[in-house]
Amino acid sequence: MKKQPLHVVILAAGVGSRMRSNRLKVLHKVAGVAMIDHVLRLAKSLDPQQITVVYGHQGEQLQAHLEGEDLNWAEQEQQLGTGHAVLQAEPFFKDEEVVLVLYGDAPLVQRQDLLNLSASRFVLTAVLEDPCGYGRIIRKQDKVMAIVEQKDADVQQQKIREINSGIIQAPAKQLKKWLAQLSNDNQQGEYYLTDVIALAEQDGCPFTAVQLADENSVKGANDMLQLAELDAILQQRKRFELQQSGVRLINPSSIQLRADICCGKDVVIDQGAILEGKVNLQDGVKIGAYSCLRDVDLAADTIIEAHSVLQGVKTLGACAIGPFARLRPGTELAVGCKVGNFVETKSCVMGKGSKASHLSYLGNAEIGVDVNIGAGTITCNYDGVNKFQTVIEDGAFIGSNSQLVAPVTIGKNATIGAGSTISFDAPSNQLTLARAKQVSISDWQRPVKQS
Ligand code: UD1
Ligand code: CA
Repeated sequence: MKKQPLHVVILAAGVGSRMRSNRLKVLHKVAGVAMIDHVLRLAKSLDPQQITVVYGHQGEQLQAHLEGEDLNWAEQEQQLGTGHAVLQAEPFFKDEEVVLVLYGDAPLVQRQDLLNLSASRFVLTAVLEDPCGYGRIIRKQDKVMAIVEQKDADVQQQKIREINSGIIQAPAKQLKKWLAQLSNDNQQGEYYLTDVIALAEQDGCPFTAVQLADENSVKGANDMLQLAELDAILQQRKRFELQQSGVRLINPSSIQLRADICCGKDVVIDQGAILEGKVNLQDGVKIGAYSCLRDVDLAADTIIEAHSVLQGVKTLGACAIGPFARLRPGTELAVGCKVGNFVETKSCVMGKGSKASHLSYLGNAEIGVDVNIGAGTITCNYDGVNKFQTVIEDGAFIGSNSQLVAPVTIGKNATIGAGSTISFDAPSNQLTLARAKQVSISDWQRPVKQS
């Protein structure tokens, strides 16, 4: 049988008042990624013919966030309920399609939860320890007779622990028919999508309940407490995946994984580390305790010592970084580099074997191979308006506490005397000093306290 084309509808128009936030609910992040992005990623992974996003409240925030995505936008001017929301997407429905509804605030559903489901109409459910707040599933064997919302449920129904995930699928033609029959005669005065289930049953076309083994997959976030719960679940999943792929996590629950992470063999991540963005750690990389990494690509055997902060950094071979180093975007280190404690880099490319071991600022700097940057070296790259480049050629030695006033070039194998302020290019192979000559005053007296 030919598979029907899939149309995914994502509901994201809700006010989200229980969040008590100015930010649109579905833009709140879970494991570093906005809830809507998790849901959209899932939608795309199902290879749909169309995706329609229902927007409304603070819609401009959502549209700005999803700019450039290939989507239909359906506006829901007034948030009259989940059924009314799906109705707004209806003009995009094609009769041959099957419609899958996802909720923008339920980001933990996984692709495998939706694969190989043969029923033409289904609703994803799960049994929760505490089902409070969710719609309850009224079953007859595997068929769903109705879904009753928490606020409409009687005492008996409130005891049911099987809940509605919100995710349903039905052929477009049938769904259209039932949507048209919804009423708002309920506690919340809303058009509930969940009422479609009872209408379908009365029509002799009941929905099948597909109960998920991992009850966490169906959870949604209506408030900050649930958001934190979803975050913890996703963190746990990500840690599990990394550990299964051979990564050593020390005190796993203290490590925050908010990134798309790719790890080689024998990677170790220590207590309290935070990973964000896109992170690639090749074989043998070690991330020290309490380090924060965002968008980094670290070559094999790179060692990050504790309390380092790296963003937009690439190492091309084994390097030693930290403790307490801050590497900012545009930092690229060749094999054998060392960037030590209290060193800040930005747009800084360092050649093989070069070292800045202590207390430096290296911004807009192009540093050759085997360069030694002494403690307290500062590239003065900014005149208050413009940024300028500092070039330090191979084998140069920069004495401690030197200022290099850019634009400036330090020649090959040049030596800069400690404490120099270098404003002009320093020639290769020579010692350049720019500091006052030392004098000693032999008959000098210390001042005496005046009465
Ligand atoms: C809904 C379900 C409930 C289910 C739960 C799962 C209904 C009536 N209830 O309840 O059975 O257990 O989700 O998490 O469907 N939205 C709109 N427009 C609206 C109202 C909502 O787009 O007018 C969107 C929201 O942005 C959100 C989703 O629909 O992404 C769910 O709405 P929400 O108000 O959070 O429903 P729940 O009370 O959680
Ligand atoms: Ca919800």
